[in-house]
Amino acid sequence: MPETWWRGAAIYQVYPRSFADGNGDGIGDLAGLRSRLPYLADLGVNAVWLTPWYPSPMADGGYDVADYRDIEPTFGTLEEAEKFIAEAHELGIKVIIDVVPNHSSDRSAWFQEALAAGPGSAARQRFWFRDEPGDWKSIFGGPAWTQVPDGQWYLHLFAPEQPDFNWTNPEVHQEFHDVLRFWFDRGVDGIRIDSAAVLVKDFDGGDPDGYTDQPEVHDVYRGWRRLAEEYDDRIFIGEVWFPDQERFARYLRPDEMHTAFNFDFLACPWDAAALRHSIQETMATHIPLGAPPTWVLSNHDVARVVTRYGREDTSWDHGARRDGVPADLELGYRRSRAAALLAMALPGGVYIYQGEELGLPEVDDIPGELRQDPMWPRSGYTIPGRDGCRVPLPWSGGEPPFGFGTGEPWLPQPEAWNKLTAEAQAQDLGSMLTLYKTALAIRRDRLGDGTLTWLDSTPEVLAFTRESGLTCLVNLGSEPVRLPPHETVLLASGPLEGEELPTDTAVWLA
Ligand code: NOJ
Ligand code: CA
Repeated sequence: MPETWWRGAAIYQVYPRSFADGNGDGIGDLAGLRSRLPYLADLGVNAVWLTPWYPSPMADGGYDVADYRDIEPTFGTLEEAEKFIAEAHELGIKVIIDVVPNHSSDRSAWFQEALAAGPGSAARQRFWFRDEPGDWKSIFGGPAWTQVPDGQWYLHLFAPEQPDFNWTNPEVHQEFHDVLRFWFDRGVDGIRIDSAAVLVKDFDGGDPDGYTDQPEVHDVYRGWRRLAEEYDDRIFIGEVWFPDQERFARYLRPDEMHTAFNFDFLACPWDAAALRHSIQETMATHIPLGAPPTWVLSNHDVARVVTRYGREDTSWDHGARRDGVPADLELGYRRSRAAALLAMALPGGVYIYQGEELGLPEVDDIPGELRQDPMWPRSGYTIPGRDGCRVPLPWSGGEPPFGFGTGEPWLPQPEAWNKLTAEAQAQDLGSMLTLYKTALAIRRDRLGDGTLTWLDSTPEVLAFTRESGLTCLVNLGSEPVRLPPHETVLLASGPLEGEELPTDTAVWLA
């Protein structure tokens, strides 16, 4: 692959706990992931991104990192991680890992040292300890300050088990430079940066949001970029959630991150005008910077796309998650197929969250006592949270655990997933898996990095061509529309009606 592999890559997101279990304890692991690498190669993705694989008490699904230089024992060992990187590379798959710079686990050596060392110690300066709590709220609900036995309070923007680092301390900068080198030296191709915009805090401005997008945060990423440039071809992907495109774009300046997740597209409703606007804004933001856009439909933090697109309100909002809101899954499934062809045709990179290629819906009926997401208790048991998109994958067979492993999965799988296993879909030409695989194969040669040209169409239709001559049409209206002149139908998300493209259907023409 050329030096710029990442500009047009299809990147598959692995949530290790839920991907595949190799040792039968019901929890996904590196042995399981390694055994399924041929599946990912066959699917045709260019890279995988793994959410955190470090030792962690799992207070927040691994985003509470206890040691940035090792592997969670239930997932495997550092040696296995190195083998995994080598095996992925042999199959032509790049490896992206998650780095969590805003906070660590309260079990990390540094935080334990800070607790033991007491008020005023240098060890406490690595975090935010205060004699009085501030009034910021945790993003997971409840206060953002927790008291320790000696009376001081520490800041955690997320769960209390996730103390925030103090990024005014040079030791913190040094530590993360070392961590980046540790993984780049082991062959990791890219880093996904968790909660990238909230590292720097302004406590004094009186702003309840004084941790979002403070100017000094950009210095952190400039330093990281300089470090990455010492290696060949390593990249950063920022988790930057902003409605404001201008502020978002600042993270993509040539001396900062290479790419960032396009959450505007993810949150956009299934509506032609809104999608056109999101795509146009995205292109307008990225092109002047020379940064490739990314197209994201789902991840481990949001309700699965089949469910979202089947609801009356198809937009996404973190603040109003709509957990449990009823959905027409057939409608959502049909739209998801069309959305997949749209996302894969657009210029830039595309992300596929594990299970998206199987058309899995959100699991809405996980019993409260089995839920693991800290959002559930921290919201006073009012917001079920993100477990419904993290249910272990169905691989094969007619009943749970569906080939996930041999033990009982850490979250229960719906019985109805017998029709959605990778095995059941592999031979079915009409399945979601076949659609993704076929689309990714076409995409390899004809799509990815570049630009698009909009075609004239009615307002309810998105229509554009790419440099390769491929035309993508998506019909979001209520009536079928006539296909423009073409030589071949390369792929359609659903059956065409003669020369017409039905509602909620996408087609690739050449
Ligand atoms: C974003 C991650 O995607 C999410 O899963 C996590 O809970 C927060 N950052 C905190 O690390
Ligand atoms: Ca396991």
